[in-house]
Amino acid sequence: MERLRIGLIGWGTVGSAVGELVRGGPLPVTLVSVAVRDRQRPDLPKGVEIGAPEAALEADVVVELAGGLDGPLAWARQALDRGMPYVTANKALLATHGKELAELAERRVAALLGSASVGGGTPMIETVAHLAATGDIEHIRGVVNATTTYILSAMGEGRTYDEALGEAQEAGYAEADPSFDVDGRDAAQKLAILASVAWGKWRPESDVTVEGIVGLDVEPGQNIRLVADATKDGMSVKPASLDRSDPMARAAGVENVLEITVADAGVFRVSGPGAGGRVTAGAVYADLARLVAGERPILFSQG
Ligand SMILES: NC(=O)c1ccc[n+]([C@@H]2O[C@H](COP(=O)([O-])OP(=O)(O)OC[C@H]3O[C@@H](n4cnc5c(N)ncnc54)[C@H](OP(=O)(O)O)[C@@H]3O)[C@@H](O)[C@H]2O)c1
Repeated sequence: MERLRIGLIGWGTVGSAVGELVRGGPLPVTLVSVAVRDRQRPDLPKGVEIGAPEAALEADVVVELAGGLDGPLAWARQALDRGMPYVTANKALLATHGKELAELAERRVAALLGSASVGGGTPMIETVAHLAATGDIEHIRGVVNATTTYILSAMGEGRTYDEALGEAQEAGYAEADPSFDVDGRDAAQKLAILASVAWGKWRPESDVTVEGIVGLDVEPGQNIRLVADATKDGMSVKPASLDRSDPMARAAGVENVLEITVADAGVFRVSGPGAGGRVTAGAVYADLARLVAGERPILFSQG
């Protein structure tokens, strides 16, 4: 079997872990190029081309783990237009331009994959797609953002918002600028992707009603989580006070939890680590396994 040649864009937390998996894992895949901004970095891999993002277009598959919007949109358009598979963990790209990219992939018979964009290493998109294929999804509900889970848990133990945020930043759960997470946008983008898969109709991030956690009062002992919620008719992300018995209330650390209610079947749950280089890389590698198997999946497509 011919080996699939991978052009990787991004050698950060996830990209470098994917690079290790591609080089050491069992699939017939080969890393041929890596793109970063700083090409003088001493920790870049040897024996592969270190170049600009466009170098990835010379491979068989583009794997984009850079983040951001403008660059990835241009790379995705170029790759898909050539009929190349595009694999990414970029939820912002998918929740903003997913419709255009899925349509382009269909026209060009290319593949568009993004397992790692929601749930990190936890197969949330796959679970929703599987359940959508076998029944009518009535409702999805999830805790899908580790930063807010960490802060809200600490506030439930008596810390102030600022104390909890400081701890989260020290523990690596929050960025120096945490606004994307605490304002609820990260969860809104993930929800839009899941809802688009659940109901086979494109739902952009802008359709989500969002309320973040800044300025929230949490009483000691209260179990508040930032809950993402969607039905066919609406999507919201907002803090909710949960009963202690609710599996969402037990989400801790980087654990994400997703609950999917299917008509005449009941409630299905999937949970696991929603962030981290190695686990997220595992989801990217699983996407590559589908390409190696000859599948040409298009995220958001019902076909
Ligand atoms: N970290 C996680 O746990 C996680 C989980 C799920 C999804 N994701 C998603 O995965 C993606 C990558 O996240 P990350 O945490 O790995 O990010 P990161 O550690 O910041 O790494 C980003 C990498 O992309 C490179 N890059 C950025 N812009 C570029 C450009 N214009 N041209 C060339 N290279 C560029 C950077 O180059 P330099 O090294 O030169 O700066 C860096 O190597 C994001 O879309 C993120 O949302 C991450």
